[in-house]
Amino acid sequence: MDTTRSKDDQQLRELKTQVEELSRALQEMKRRLMLSEKSALLGQLVAGIAHEINTPLGALKSNSDLFMRYTFKIKAMLLDPESPGEVRENPAILKLFAEVEKLNRVNKEASDRIVEIVNGIRRYARKDECAPTQADLHEILNSTLAIVHHELKNRVIVHLSYQADPRIHCFPGQLSQIFVNLIVNASHAIEGRGEIFIKTYNRNSDAVVEIRDTGKGIPQSELARIFEAGFTTKKNGMGMGLALVKQMADNHRGQIEVESAVGAGTTFRIILPAGDLQE
Ligand SMILES: Nc1ncnc2c1ncn2[C@@H]1O[C@H](COP(=O)(O)OP(=O)(O)OP(=O)(O)O)[C@@H](O)[C@H]1O
Ligand SMILES: [Mg+2]
Repeated sequence: MDTTRSKDDQQLRELKTQVEELSRALQEMKRRLMLSEKSALLGQLVAGIAHEINTPLGALKSNSDLFMRYTFKIKAMLLDPESPGEVRENPAILKLFAEVEKLNRVNKEASDRIVEIVNGIRRYARKDECAPTQADLHEILNSTLAIVHHELKNRVIVHLSYQADPRIHCFPGQLSQIFVNLIVNASHAIEGRGEIFIKTYNRNSDAVVEIRDTGKGIPQSELARIFEAGFTTKKNGMGMGLALVKQMADNHRGQIEVESAVGAGTTFRIILPAGDLQE
């Protein structure tokens, strides 16, 4: 009788352990699913927006080019030595041309800038990036900065110091997303004006990307939790940014280092090992 009961107890305990293990595995699967769904959804959304912007942007850009050529022609006609002096030397006309040329220049710069941003976004959201590839770390950082420009401009000064050998075997879209998440977090941590220092260098054969901000810092008590999916101290935060960063750094067999001082700022370092990544 007693032996049967202890056998039952034993089986029950084993069953309980199994259920606990299964439930842990389920939690982990749920967490991974959330991460991959969020990043896939974001990628699709961003690619869709970039695509939508591209069509009217193409029209604007080609119209603006035509407009510049036509203005140039009209100016040449009006200022032709054969045209009447009252037209050629009319100060109002000359002033108008100076204004129109200035506007044209600004339009051209603005549309070039939008093209640059949209291309950056498309590179960032490209979905054909299942396989790792050889890329340029500094180009990835530059196109990432074009994406987050609107978040930083006029408020946060970015200092760049590129010292690493930029050749890197990586998933470029994921690296870009790592940098976006870290730079956006850095910007959120800065109340009012501040600075972000982005530095690359080699540590032995590893490439290190350091992103330091002069923001409010992370209290010691929170430091251990920041990579947890769902951990956030922001009103509208999802707490997903750093969990994704961790996952994508893992995909590169990379390491992350964090140092922070409340009131002084935070430094994140992504350490990327040299060598080819296997699929
Ligand atoms: N550079 C930083 N300076 C200060 N605190 C930071 C910094 N980076 C992250 N944190 C802290 O870590 C928390 C988690 O960051 P994480 O990027 O994972 O989520 P989030 O920014 O809150 O939301 P989201 O999902 O939109 O990124 C933040 O809420 C913030 O408290
Ligand atoms: Mg974040």
